[in-house]
Amino acid sequence: MNILLLGSGGRECAFAWKISQSPLCSNLFIAPGNAGTGAYGKNINLNPNDFEAVKAFALKEGIEMLVVGPEEPLVNGIHDFFANDEALAHIPVIGPKKEGAILEGSKDFSKQFMERHNIPTAKSKSFTNENLQDGLAYLANHATPIVLKADGLAAGKGVLILDNVAEAQEELKLMLGGKFGNAGSTVVVEEFLSGIELSVFVLTDGENYVILPEAKDYKRIGQGDTGLNTGGMGSVSPVPFANEAFLAEIKETIIEPTVKGLAKDNIDYTGFIFFGLIKVGEKPYVIEYNCRMGDPETESVIPRIESDLVELFKAAAEKNLGNYKLKISPKNAATVMLVAGGYPGDYDKGKAISGIENIRHSYAFHAGTTLEGGVVKTNGGRVLAVTSLQDTQFNALQCATADAGRIYFDGKYFREDIGFDLI
Ligand code: AMP
Ligand code: GLY
Repeated sequence: MNILLLGSGGRECAFAWKISQSPLCSNLFIAPGNAGTGAYGKNINLNPNDFEAVKAFALKEGIEMLVVGPEEPLVNGIHDFFANDEALAHIPVIGPKKEGAILEGSKDFSKQFMERHNIPTAKSKSFTNENLQDGLAYLANHATPIVLKADGLAAGKGVLILDNVAEAQEELKLMLGGKFGNAGSTVVVEEFLSGIELSVFVLTDGENYVILPEAKDYKRIGQGDTGLNTGGMGSVSPVPFANEAFLAEIKETIIEPTVKGLAKDNIDYTGFIFFGLIKVGEKPYVIEYNCRMGDPETESVIPRIESDLVELFKAAAEKNLGNYKLKISPKNAATVMLVAGGYPGDYDKGKAISGIENIRHSYAFHAGTTLEGGVVKTNGGRVLAVTSLQDTQFNALQCATADAGRIYFDGKYFREDIGFDLI
């Protein structure tokens, strides 16, 4: 099978690594990919959001499956584009159509969806410029802290947590005034939930689903989970506090009603659902839905999947997940992200990377890297994900952290405490 994978991050590198191991995969292309994905397939210099270019390439190479890594092409409707084009309609797409991707593309939609299907989530109310005065009045009586969320995609920056009412009122005005562009033309005002977060993933064919290993992401830049938010500085899987009873509760109160809710709402969904959850007391609540896998969670999740990933994708595309048994390794994965100095603020690119060949007990999944004249160089804020898979969580954490120290580039930074809070 000729497979085209869209994206260029650590998530896509982990996918490419796993897809390339499948006997069902004859040719793998990654667009645009990075210096790491090039080892598992052929990198193609095209923009995943340029659907006409994706089409031309898919036809030229006889692509037989499209796997979409990031949310943007999905929210922009790449699956619909394929389904509605006579020449492309036979190609299965892993990733939902627009009507499903809106679970991530609109927080207002996802809150209404959860309310409609009785899925536990923080109480909320949405406002636009039309009813700004109602919004300000609503905030005046709101308990603090207050969570404000831009409705649309805002590159992970659209959520604000505010300690007092006056600040929240000011921010509501700024957001509705265009602080996040169009993404903030509707703002969700949400109750603050206090607890510990985790990420749960399913692959669904719209009717049945397979639950993938859960993971925990570490979002803050600083040791001890302090400082600015990032795209994610590391992850672990499994998550020790997600015991059997808690995972069963997630399945019953969140996963089942979500998949059934999509079907009830006539949303045909083939792809990943990423449940961003928070454990409040013993109960799970949904913080957000994403229509794709998480990054860096994927780098911890994929190495724990023993099944053939292409076989799994094929079963999803054929609506055959009801009979699918996923084989998961009982081992522990830990991922440490190496980032560029200055990230998540301004940072340099183009720094030569060395020492990847010196890592001993881990995989190096490339994220923001590029190959220039035979030299691997930094090309983004998050540069490399170092994942170790070991018998105990402690060993996985130690190995990943030690191997992260064996790689060099000017300005390199990583957290040395990923996952140690959970032991
Ligand atoms: P989101 O983009 O919706 O995932 O939000 C980003 C982050 O903000 C989440 O990962 C949480 O850490 C935090 N957050 C979002 N909503 C809430 C909430 N209702 N209560 C507490 N924290 C939240
Ligand atoms: N790691 C969080 C995300 O991918 O959104």
